[in-house]
Amino acid sequence: MSITRNILALSLGAAVIAGAAFADSHAANPAVKARQSHMQLYSFNLGILGTMAKGETEYDAEAASAAATNLATLAQLNQSAYWPQGTDNASMEGTRALPAIWNDFPDILTKSKAMVDAAVALEASAGDGLEALQAGIGPVGGACGGCHKPYRQSNN
Ligand code: HEC
Repeated sequence: MSITRNILALSLGAAVIAGAAFADSHAANPAVKARQSHMQLYSFNLGILGTMAKGETEYDAEAASAAATNLATLAQLNQSAYWPQGTDNASMEGTRALPAIWNDFPDILTKSKAMVDAAVALEASAGDGLEALQAGIGPVGGACGGCHKPYRQSNN
């Protein structure tokens, strides 16, 4: 029992250290961290679906459904607290959120709604075969891009 606890304590410690290293290139503001972490979860789950859709990994109905359900669930979380005033990339380091988000507010929440619609549709179809997955993933990628284009600083 105590061995299990020690292992747990060790792995938690490692997670905290890894978290600190990750924070180097990211903001310390908790809302910024939360939205970036949310995006990482989008990215991870979309990655599973994307490699299947492209035939890089074998189609697996159960895994596809699980990843699509995660995307739909994430999309439906209330994200309004992710975007406090003063957390744009002109006001602080460690974020790619453009000031346009706050000029247009709450349009970003409308863009989140488009994400919900695409992800819920994919959730319903991702387990129905490779073709269904391929058809449903496009709109989800489109919803990511539909928000990144106006509201996220490009990498270049
Ligand atoms: C409603 C708008 C919106 C939607 C929808 C959206 N994003 Fe983002 N995304 C952003 C913004 C804004 C940022 C920049 C956040 C920051 O740096 O503070 C971002 C950042 C990211 C990042 C970088 C995260 C980091 O660690 O810095 C990734 C990866 C990402 N998005 C992936 C996705 C994927 C994949 C989807 C679709 C499944 C998606 N996003 C949907 C607005 C959105």
